[in-house]
Amino acid sequence: MKQTYISEISKHLGQEITIKGWLYNKRSSGKLGFLEIRDGSGIIQGVVSKKDVSDETWESTEKVTQESSVIITGAPREHPKKPGVYELDIKDLRIVQLAHEYPITPKEHGVEFLMDKRHLWLRSRRQHAILRVRHEIIRAVRDFFDNNGFILCDTPVFTPAACEGTTTLFEVGYFDEKAYLTQSGQLYNEATAAAFGKVYCFGPTFRAEKSKTRRHLTEFWMVEPEVAYAKLDDVMELAENFIGHIVSRVLESRREELNVLERDISKLEKIAPPFPRLQYDDAVKMLQEGHTKGALESRFEWGGDLGSPDETYISSQYDKPVMVHRYPAAVKAFYMEPDPERPDLALCVDVLAPEGYGEIIGGGERASSLELLLNRIQEHGLPEEAFDWYLDLRKYGSVPHAGFGMGIERCVAWLCGLEHVRETIPFPRMLYRLKP
Ligand code: 4AD
Ligand code: MG
Repeated sequence: MKQTYISEISKHLGQEITIKGWLYNKRSSGKLGFLEIRDGSGIIQGVVSKKDVSDETWESTEKVTQESSVIITGAPREHPKKPGVYELDIKDLRIVQLAHEYPITPKEHGVEFLMDKRHLWLRSRRQHAILRVRHEIIRAVRDFFDNNGFILCDTPVFTPAACEGTTTLFEVGYFDEKAYLTQSGQLYNEATAAAFGKVYCFGPTFRAEKSKTRRHLTEFWMVEPEVAYAKLDDVMELAENFIGHIVSRVLESRREELNVLERDISKLEKIAPPFPRLQYDDAVKMLQEGHTKGALESRFEWGGDLGSPDETYISSQYDKPVMVHRYPAAVKAFYMEPDPERPDLALCVDVLAPEGYGEIIGGGERASSLELLLNRIQEHGLPEEAFDWYLDLRKYGSVPHAGFGMGIERCVAWLCGLEHVRETIPFPRMLYRLKP
């Protein structure tokens, strides 16, 4: 029996085909049964009529339980009232395994319960839609860089030192030494960019964040491009083109999934470059005005990093992502290049997604002077010996260079319109969640 996938069903109308999948849902009325079947590629409603099938098949349709694995033979046809929707007239149904009572029923469940059952929850329509959008985003990310002259250079997960601040490092034993799970591939990207010019890395990233917010995971996927000879303006342009490309791909290829998620597509249709650029100083003014107007509880003072409510307020002023640049160097990582006109500012950029989805990209220009970096490493209390190789990059042909990192899960949450990042990755890792 050759298997036909539900996604290909429209090519087989009127033919007898076999679907291998699982029972998603079932209703029956007397001698007629309605079985929703899923096979990973889609869901189709099967209709079975007692008079048209063997007694054995009819019995099977009566006893089959939710999520039982089934092999079904039948003929697909278009739904009489819904063009583009297909149904399957079932001729034969064989149960591969009769499922135990399935814990996730069509009724409402609490999120914690569903997270505990994540390994099963992934089978549901909504989760399916989210993870397909995630896949499309990842494909768009790879295509964008691969088609624009970037070389994929993977960076290590075990690292000897911090990239993004020592407070969020996961420490692991590494034979007789200590190692840390990577917080960002950036430092290694800087080495490969000096070798290949335009590079990107894309892999899992770890942050021991004690924060239990809807935007934080302890393990997430970050894609990071790095470009030799690029300046801050170049990476801002790269970031807006990159995001524009991702959004248009998702709109083009994943409309059905966005509809399942009831995403307001008109909001995404507005996302085309150029994006507004807002200097930190002006962002501070905007936040202070917001406070005066009563939209923000506390008054934001110059010098601080933006918190979630601040980001939400700023992004609510625009219908496109906004690029906030030139933060005070004191609130940013050690490797940032200072603005030559305002050395207290870093040549960095955070891209804030619209509709309050917060920061999706962080990046900027890297310090290219050896002396400056040595000072910064000391000021940040970082172990100099762990960075000797990194400092070599400033000894042998140092050039201005810049890049950024985008967290895939934050991007998925934004495009799918999700409150929380926990549903954007198959098996989320968070402060209080290591299982399943
Ligand atoms: O702003 P971050 O910390 O920047 C860096 O790590 C740079 N070294 C990247 C670079 O320039 N190559 O992180 C970049 C992005 C954030 O904008 C956010 O999208 C995501 O990574 N991110 C997280 N996503 C989920 N959970 C967390 N705990 C995250 N921390 C950062
Ligand atoms: Mg950041």
